[in-house]
Amino acid sequence: MEEKIAVYPGSFDPITYGHVDIIKRALKIFDKVIVAVAYNYNKKSLFTPQERVEMIKEALKGYTNVIVGSFGGLLMEYMKEANAKVVLRGLRATSDFEYEYHMASMNRSLSKDIDTLFMVTGKDYFFISSRTIKEVVSLGGSVEELVPENVSRKLREKFVQQKRGAK
Ligand code: COA
Repeated sequence: MEEKIAVYPGSFDPITYGHVDIIKRALKIFDKVIVAVAYNYNKKSLFTPQERVEMIKEALKGYTNVIVGSFGGLLMEYMKEANAKVVLRGLRATSDFEYEYHMASMNRSLSKDIDTLFMVTGKDYFFISSRTIKEVVSLGGSVEELVPENVSRKLREKFVQQKRGAK
């Protein structure tokens, strides 16, 4: 039987428990989840693609059905290379819907045989975004309950480095 594979794309700058929750739930539906870190598009990132991939791998070690990759071009091209037919996206609030609807529709016009599946973000993670996580840590706040331990450590290290560089 053909393996059911979902690709979960995003910037993951950095991965949060909101993303982890989506991945764990998707593993109940799919045989394999490929977490695909997008780089080279117009969103400035704090972490390099390699750092983001490494953080995700560490946060999800033990999950043998999760593969972590990265892509720099069109998502639909990556889907073909991965031989996957389902794009997985999390929806946090109605405000996410319009953006997601446009993206899913554009992707569908590019590849008719690929579908986007939305999962509602866990109730404890509705308010999280990678941007707010970074802001809180940069101002000395704690995000221990919102991101994996290795991610909160890396965030603190990154901002210490940045502050040293700025002196
Ligand atoms: N829980 C908590 N936060 C979540 C979440 C969840 N379940 N799901 C998303 N988020 C947050 C992210 O942390 C991110 O926060 P930020 O904006 O503060 O960084 C935000 O929601 C949205 O990010 P993300 O899911 O990473 O999407 P994105 O908009 O950064 O990425 C791509 C979109 C990369 C998937 C899309 O641009 C893409 O496919 N690009 C490739 C080029 C392409 O094919 N373009 C044509 C498609 S139209």
